[in-house]
Amino acid sequence: MSGPAVPYDYDDNPQRFLAWQPAEDVHERIAERVARERLVPVLDLGCGDGRLARAMRDTSGWIGVDISTTLLALAPRPVVHADGLHLPIRRNSIAAVAALWMLYHFAEPTLVIAEAHRVLRPGGFFVACTSARDDAPELLPPANPTSFDAEDAPAIVASVFGKVEVEHWDDQLVELRDGAELYRYLIQHLADPNLADGVEVPLRLTKRGCLIWARK
Ligand SMILES: C[S@@+](CC[C@H](N)C(=O)[O-])C[C@H]1O[C@@H](n2cnc3c(N)ncnc32)[C@H](O)[C@@H]1O
Repeated sequence: MSGPAVPYDYDDNPQRFLAWQPAEDVHERIAERVARERLVPVLDLGCGDGRLARAMRDTSGWIGVDISTTLLALAPRPVVHADGLHLPIRRNSIAAVAALWMLYHFAEPTLVIAEAHRVLRPGGFFVACTSARDDAPELLPPANPTSFDAEDAPAIVASVFGKVEVEHWDDQLVELRDGAELYRYLIQHLADPNLADGVEVPLRLTKRGCLIWARK
């Protein structure tokens, strides 16, 4: 059962989100598929500081959209300052929409997914990702449900697009090398930094989540 939206803090406290980033994330895989299938233009919804663009070899087709002016200032160009619920973009005009690590910020993610569906061309791709509630069990207790967790996300995307392709991950994908990195990881994940007390480093974390692809 899905829960509330994750609070938005990107303009008040951008250092929280910027505190830690994994060496490898989903962006590299998505950039590879976008290039292989020549998906242009790509709308990066909730682009943040532009990690997807930085993973793309050719960024000429990339367009970032975000509501945070603070993070948009750090992103490559072109960017559009807009709310994912109301995209100032023509229907049937976009080859791929990426909504990476962002749909849990909406109380009703289906409204944003429906906006993505509207702007996509017939045959265009939608891709989203999120974590599972039992992500990083070596460090964190099971998380309270959010509006877009890996447990429910494929069904939520399917409620708009119909068929979905899902790639799950459940593996020790992250190593926190020292206490400072452990602290930054906890901050970035909105967790209590006191959870670092007594934890031995380096620490390998089992990451659980999924990537969901859908075609219009
Ligand atoms: C966890 S960050 C992910 C950033 C980027 N997609 C990435 O993978 O690195 C979530 C992003 O969603 C953006 N966001 C949150 N609510 C939004 C909204 N209503 N409209 C557009 N973007 C939003 C935030 O500003 C932030 O940049």
